[in-house]
Amino acid sequence: MPRLLSPAAALLVGDVRTAVVTGGDDHAVAARVARALTGHLADPLLLDPEHREPDPDHYRQHVLHVEPDGSFSVVALVWLPGQETCIHDHVSWCVVGTYVGEEEETTYRLVGDRLVQRGINRTPQGVASYLVPPGDIHKVCNSSDSVAISIHVYGADIGLLGTSIRRRYDLPVAH
Ligand SMILES: [Fe+2]
Repeated sequence: MPRLLSPAAALLVGDVRTAVVTGGDDHAVAARVARALTGHLADPLLLDPEHREPDPDHYRQHVLHVEPDGSFSVVALVWLPGQETCIHDHVSWCVVGTYVGEEEETTYRLVGDRLVQRGINRTPQGVASYLVPPGDIHKVCNSSDSVAISIHVYGADIGLLGTSIRRRYDLPVAH
């Protein structure tokens, strides 16, 4: 179980909870969560030092909170330069906000048995965006030369699932 949150992170969780329980379709909820998250991305106290720790081998996920009813989860992801995810999609809506540095997302669409790159979105510090399945195939990378930290909120119980990733795509990519 995640340990007790910092007061700043507890405020974030409270704002996300309000955004989620207000209800609506996935796009409406994710957009509201993204607005709520944006308000916390400049807070220097949001993450304790242990939640900023990287892993030299791959990007690191720190679970900050799993809502008791499983309706949402909040994680901090720490990326060293060059670290990236596989190409994947998600089991639920996903809100991403950059806390430190810059995160780069490449999006794809599935065409037959291959992937076609759709675009590259760079999210600088302080900015949040969201994805809603289906059609959310992407990978995330830190292509900068300094550490990046992002806060991700998923509309799922990742304490139960272990991850928010639905499928991994190991297919040829056409640009
Ligand atoms: Fe993702």
